[in-house]
Amino acid sequence: MLKRIAIAVLGALVGWAIVVIPVRAETDQGATLFETHCVGCHINGGNIIRRGKTLKLKALEKNGYGTEAAIAEIVTNGKGNMSAYQDRLTAEEIQIVSAYVLDQARQDWQKH
Ligand code: HEC
Repeated sequence: MLKRIAIAVLGALVGWAIVVIPVRAETDQGATLFETHCVGCHINGGNIIRRGKTLKLKALEKNGYGTEAAIAEIVTNGKGNMSAYQDRLTAEEIQIVSAYVLDQARQDWQKH
């Protein structure tokens, strides 16, 4: 009986590690990409150039960037004073940094 519980617990732990570790790695990569390419204008999820166009959840939703796909679109093609990133980042990196932005917006940029 105890052995069974031990195996179940071990199994759960291994399962947890398989699920959680890649997610963590993506978040870290998102943070690194953001710090390298975006933070200059979007420090703390703000916008130093266009004050109303921040990366806070309210602004994103108001301006039509409340989804990962919409964020990826503006990152890929740029807009106004924000340049396009399609030549600097791969499609996968754009996806990761967009997911990171939305994730941070949902947490109100507490970590930055
Ligand atoms: C040179 C400064 C600059 C950099 C670097 C920059 N942005 Fe922007 N970003 C802007 C400006 C300016 C706007 C407003 C564009 C407009 O609507 O005219 C904007 C808008 C946005 C928006 C829409 C926000 C809203 O509320 O409308 C998102 C999302 C965004 N940027 C994400 C990113 C990401 C992700 C990166 C890094 C890959 C990045 N930006 C890098 C200047 C920058």
